[in-house]
Amino acid sequence: MNDAAPATQPETFYLKDYTPFGFDVDSVELIFRLAPDTTRVLSKIHFTPKPDAADRTFFLHGEQLSLISARIDGAEVTPELTASGLTCDVPDQPFVWGAEVEINPQANTALEGLYMSNGMYCTQCEAEGFRKITYYPDRPDVMSTFSVRIEGDEKVMLSNGNPVDTGGGFAEWHDPWPKPAYLFALVAGDLVNHPDRFTTRSGKEVLLNIWVRPGDEHKCDFGMNALKKSMAWDEEVYGREYDLDVFNIVAVDDFNMGAMENKGLNIFNSSCVLASPETSTDSNFERIEAIIAHEYFHNWTGNRITCRDWFQLCLKEGLTVYRDAQFTADMRSAPVKRIEDAIDLRARQFPEDNGPLAHPVRPESFQEINNFYTATVYEKGAEVIGMLKRLVGDAAYYTAVDLYFDRHDGQACTIEDWIKVFEDSTGRDLQQFKTWYSQAGTPRLKVSETFADGTYTLTFRQSTPPTPGQDHKDPKVIPIAVGLLSAEGAELVPTTVLEMTQAEQSFSFEGLDAQPVPSILRDFSAPVILDRETSAQERAFLLAHDTDPFTRWEAGRELAKASRIAMVKDGASPDAAYLEALKTLVRDDTLDPAFRALVLSPPSESEIAQALADQGVTPDPDAIHDAAETFAQTLAQSLSDSLPRLFAATLVDGPYQPDAIGAGSRALNGRLLGLLTRIDGGEAAARQYEEADNMTVQNTALACLLKAEKGESQSRAFFEQWQDDRLVMDKWFALQVATARPERAPTVAAELTKHRLFTIKNPNRFRAVMGALSMNHAGFHQADGSGYRLLADQLIALDALNPQTTARMCTAFQTWKRYDDARQALMLAELERIKSTSGLSRDTNEMVSRILD
Ligand code: PHE
Ligand code: ZN
Repeated sequence: MNDAAPATQPETFYLKDYTPFGFDVDSVELIFRLAPDTTRVLSKIHFTPKPDAADRTFFLHGEQLSLISARIDGAEVTPELTASGLTCDVPDQPFVWGAEVEINPQANTALEGLYMSNGMYCTQCEAEGFRKITYYPDRPDVMSTFSVRIEGDEKVMLSNGNPVDTGGGFAEWHDPWPKPAYLFALVAGDLVNHPDRFTTRSGKEVLLNIWVRPGDEHKCDFGMNALKKSMAWDEEVYGREYDLDVFNIVAVDDFNMGAMENKGLNIFNSSCVLASPETSTDSNFERIEAIIAHEYFHNWTGNRITCRDWFQLCLKEGLTVYRDAQFTADMRSAPVKRIEDAIDLRARQFPEDNGPLAHPVRPESFQEINNFYTATVYEKGAEVIGMLKRLVGDAAYYTAVDLYFDRHDGQACTIEDWIKVFEDSTGRDLQQFKTWYSQAGTPRLKVSETFADGTYTLTFRQSTPPTPGQDHKDPKVIPIAVGLLSAEGAELVPTTVLEMTQAEQSFSFEGLDAQPVPSILRDFSAPVILDRETSAQERAFLLAHDTDPFTRWEAGRELAKASRIAMVKDGASPDAAYLEALKTLVRDDTLDPAFRALVLSPPSESEIAQALADQGVTPDPDAIHDAAETFAQTLAQSLSDSLPRLFAATLVDGPYQPDAIGAGSRALNGRLLGLLTRIDGGEAAARQYEEADNMTVQNTALACLLKAEKGESQSRAFFEQWQDDRLVMDKWFALQVATARPERAPTVAAELTKHRLFTIKNPNRFRAVMGALSMNHAGFHQADGSGYRLLADQLIALDALNPQTTARMCTAFQTWKRYDDARQALMLAELERIKSTSGLSRDTNEMVSRILD
């Protein structure tokens, strides 16, 4: 047993050190003899030495494995075991490596490798989990076909590819598509299926299955439809067909991430696939649809073409996130999706890119690759694809992507390969564009303008602040989508993409009668921070008249921010002009309810904290919270005459449909109910709770009541109604922490960790409570440090069981430098306490060290 002993000095891996493996793997045969604590894995791996290899070291990764025996061409050998794998003398000719190892799925709480979840066997191999299953060159550039035989008495036993044979006590699978080990999967357990079929455009019949635990059958229908829509969409938009006879999806309760794109056998966190109107909210439905699409789209962008090494992670993730965003935009509302993505990027990626954890979209070094499944790699990675598409144009984009599929199908690729198909097919030089991949940090874009003799000139100056390990930043290529409006609100110059390449650059528009109003960064055309001094009046004008939904919404968001900052900094009252603008907008029935809901959504308290810090003001979380409350209260009062009527109009009749139209109306319902609850004593919310026939409105009503501290009986009723539904209970746990008054939040969270239904072993439940605490801004940042202490206590306890989720949740501390000295000291003390925990995982150690740096 070579238990991964915590190395004193963790190894750092570098992109520049890449060397290919010295052998080809021609095929892999695996036999699993399942037993909860003594599973045997027998492997037969066909290796061929590469004639031209610079390095022919035969090293196989392996961790937490008990080696029973090893053979080469049938003859027993004694390999040399190391902490991270084994080496062995091997022939110069093709040979067959055989090994038998024993593993303990039952004891695997890290949820990586083969583990058990509610009595069901399940694997997670990305990024480096296969080495906990057997000895193998566990690197994405080693691709092979896999044949798998599973022996056990489980009702359902699945692996990748197509089924070959099944009988009493065994099932055999063969995956004809060469794949890296991180795409391997196995599932076995008492599962029931929700079957369907899909006929591909070329006439191939595919059997589709969603496998769930008995009792969850009624929650599969929506996911199945999302899958079929995804399959059709990828054919239509990218010309990509599915390539196996079956496509299986399995729902598991214990999972660190959202879902995993294993070839032909996607494994999902049950929260990301199971849905029903009674138990899921509109945002759950939208998210599930997107994740099903995301994992399905990986079949081409990730699986057929994979990554050469883990530094290239954004090659599959950025592109696949971009594709799923396109899909959602097509299925629902493109403007709403774009605004949601901008909100999300600013909430999760900007803090990362502007703090101690900043790293390039393609990182250059890591200690633990699991720590790089970040908003930067995923979401900024997707933004980079979007910018590329905007720069080359739609048609050229699809031509280049076609070339990518033609040229690289079956290969393990790099960002250079990706850039090259665009260079080759468009003739453009994209070397400067590549800095988006290599240089971290969010660019600031300062704008100034002049108008003279009918010529309007916009001047942009870009700069990116230094990030850890990168002091110098080069100017980036930035597509800036701009439109010009007349003083009457007419579109004078329709959306034009300005291509900025220099540190400072001007663009002129001629032949104008009067100075126009510019609408800049339409559709959020680049992930940058726009810095433009302008009047509240002009923002209000854009909020009323801009033809681009994103910049229109953005104008309102800027007004909201300015008003809140003035309230916190100068003790100002809520801005009257902004309140007026909001009132006009919310009453405008010609506007999409979803859009109105977005305009009514206030900037988060964390966003205000960052905005203050950017102005050199130390943010006070309590003052920021009070300003948010005062603003909402004032808005509610000034709308009081029309609120009941507006609210009533959002109550949609007829059966619940999880589509964009219904969801938009319910989003507005939620915003308005929040305001109404501030003035009617909770009457409307209590009624809505009583009458609710779907989770969206039930959840909204409960949230409003809890926030008003009037929801005790409803909370109890909710618990009674849903205590047997794990996913709904996650909402119940999260809601109480999210809605708690700041000074109560740490206590509420602490009490919930003692609830009989709380378990630290289930990542969803842990995140429901601890994630909600870290997102209750003023609650987490209580001046007495109780929020910090509770989270640190919980993270220390979790690290011993599940390093991956622990490390990810350490990001709650990444903004520590924003705050006052006292809070900084409290956070530092907790970070130091985590860091000094004996036996701390490599994952958490790396994260905490980087945050402290
Ligand atoms: N590759 C998965 C996805 O983005 C995410 C994931 C990473 C899941 C690592 C599990 C472990 O779809
Ligand atoms: Zn992905």
